[in-house]
Amino acid sequence: MQIPTKKLKNGFEMPVYGLGTWQMGGRKEHDPNNDDEADIQAIKAAIELGVTHLDTAEIYANGYSEILLGRAIKDYDRSKLFLVSKVSDEHLRFDDVITAAKQSLKRLETNYLDLYLTHRPNPPGVSIKETMRAMDTLVDEGLVKNIGICNYTAEEIEEAQSYAKNKIVAAQLHLNLKYREAERRDVLKYCQANDILFIAWRPVQKGILLNNIPEILQRMAEKYSKTPAQIALNWLISQDNVVTLSKTRNVAHLKENLGALGWQMQKEDIEQLRNGFPDQEAVSDAVPLNR
Ligand SMILES: NC(=O)c1ccc[n+]([C@@H]2O[C@H](COP(=O)([O-])OP(=O)(O)OC[C@H]3O[C@@H](n4cnc5c(N)ncnc54)[C@H](OP(=O)(O)O)[C@@H]3O)[C@@H](O)[C@H]2O)c1
Repeated sequence: MQIPTKKLKNGFEMPVYGLGTWQMGGRKEHDPNNDDEADIQAIKAAIELGVTHLDTAEIYANGYSEILLGRAIKDYDRSKLFLVSKVSDEHLRFDDVITAAKQSLKRLETNYLDLYLTHRPNPPGVSIKETMRAMDTLVDEGLVKNIGICNYTAEEIEEAQSYAKNKIVAAQLHLNLKYREAERRDVLKYCQANDILFIAWRPVQKGILLNNIPEILQRMAEKYSKTPAQIALNWLISQDNVVTLSKTRNVAHLKENLGALGWQMQKEDIEQLRNGFPDQEAVSDAVPLNR
């Protein structure tokens, strides 16, 4: 299928749904017992089904996720893919950003990234200005087409943008029906107001959202004749500027997730879910913005 895209005023465009690779190849370290072939086949199956947005990071399985992704994409037309990787917060000094990006490209066996993100805000003592200068340099050198950030507050995005000559086109943060910190801290609103795409990570909360389905989610699923997973994903991408990505190794799950695309939930239902979804969490359980 042709995955719909969202586009910014400056022309930057990306698919509304992508495949994540966190836990492919291992967690923080490479897991030698990982079923690499299953991960590679899952990525290839996704590409065959039309997925072009593929998301990874240097810290996933300590670089091994990038290696697996590189192996999976090598028989496909690179120009049709939208590859995203991220620089670790341990590598945010100028030279480290450049080296990290080059190493990611090497592992992915490609010569550019469509989008490169800082994975976490800067640790104390490492200036955002220095990091953004490095991100701009990567664009100048053609190694990266676009730059973005992950897990920043609105103020941090604004500060980063004040130092970067290239537009920050995307912000990747934790957001789903249950975890609402990015919404409550107005990061989503900031992105909408400033023409930045908001990439919502963990849309089904690692599948947990789909256990013990709340009545409101079940009701929406019935109303739209969709599954709860499709409602959870569509709730995100029906909102202005929001795109999402999920990780799956299971082709049936992937096909289900793709069924979340190409239709739009009514505004009143988006708001009902925003207000009525039970047991919401105001702070991310994984990467809180309250630092
Ligand atoms: N920037 C950041 O700091 C950050 C942080 C976290 C994640 N991310 C990115 O965002 C991606 C997505 O987040 P995530 O992987 O943490 O969480 P997620 O996509 O919400 O959840 C992935 C889990 O949900 C299951 N799943 C997916 N679709 C399903 C469906 N239709 N029905 C039932 N189970 C389903 C998958 O299992 P199966 O494999 O069995 O389908 C997998 O275990 C990551 O892979 C990563 O690329 C970025």
